[in-house]
Amino acid sequence: MKIGIIGIGHLGRSFAKGLIKSGFNASDIIANARTLETFSKVKELFPGVITTTDKAELIEKSDIIVIAVKPKDAVAALSGIADLDFAGKTIITFMAGITLKDMRKMLHDDAGTLKIVRVMPNVAISLCNGITGISYDKDEKDIEEVITLFRRLGMVISLPEEELDTVTVCAGSGPAFAAYLMREYKNACNKMFKDEKISEEVAIRVFESTLQLMKEDKDNFNDVITKVATKGGSTEKGIEKYEETDFTGIIYGGIEASYERISKLK
Ligand SMILES: NC(=O)c1ccc[n+]([C@@H]2O[C@H](COP(=O)([O-])OP(=O)(O)OC[C@H]3O[C@@H](n4cnc5c(N)ncnc54)[C@H](OP(=O)(O)O)[C@@H]3O)[C@@H](O)[C@H]2O)c1
Repeated sequence: MKIGIIGIGHLGRSFAKGLIKSGFNASDIIANARTLETFSKVKELFPGVITTTDKAELIEKSDIIVIAVKPKDAVAALSGIADLDFAGKTIITFMAGITLKDMRKMLHDDAGTLKIVRVMPNVAISLCNGITGISYDKDEKDIEEVITLFRRLGMVISLPEEELDTVTVCAGSGPAFAAYLMREYKNACNKMFKDEKISEEVAIRVFESTLQLMKEDKDNFNDVITKVATKGGSTEKGIEKYEETDFTGIIYGGIEASYERISKLK
């Protein structure tokens, strides 16, 4: 199977990295971008990956074609390829907020015969530990190979298209939200340590080791809280302070704003 990636930017490269890490042949990946700078970066990062400035060549040689450009660049990226022969090929779009209907329109697929799948991964697919939402408007049996492909790269959630934006904000934007939370924990610790390096190391280790402990002890979040926050102790006092605030509401506020933004992009 050959996979062509149109728009090998941040997510496109995460995808290529995950594929190669999971055992996929680099030489079975064909990449396209806009600038020479990106072509050089891809050649340096992924020796063996084929690069081409010719989208028609990429499409002809690929069984799966992934569109990973920014939504604002979709029209420019797709306009020259709309009338090419996609028979027997699968088209995957990573673009947030661009619907299957939009894709059919841009690819002049009035009859709705093209196999187009919306896929919403997060950048952790590069580690084969990602989260990927997949939506398809026809029989899911037809996209078994897409589901199997993304299972190599982590968890897959198959869901109706109208629910895909939830994956986009909770999982797609998730690494940025998680990094934000960790950074603020570091900033809070720094009010005590007053040494940025120590605070950063402490914050990273706290988050990293908590996840390790949960996995090893098969604990859930509450189990860890109960184990550490002994009755009447100092940790319990800290947790009580958090409970007085609308902590969930603050976090949800960011997720909700991100969700609304996608609706506006549409
Ligand atoms: N980043 C994430 O975590 C994430 C998560 C979920 C979904 N997504 C979706 O993934 C898509 C890509 O996001 P990104 O963060 O990877 O963006 P990005 O880093 O800006 O990458 C976009 C790539 O598209 C290329 N490109 C732009 N116009 C093109 C054209 N006309 N023909 C060929 N290539 C073109 C750019 O080429 P040059 O580099 O040469 O300019 C660049 O490599 C977006 O639609 C986004 O909604 C991203």
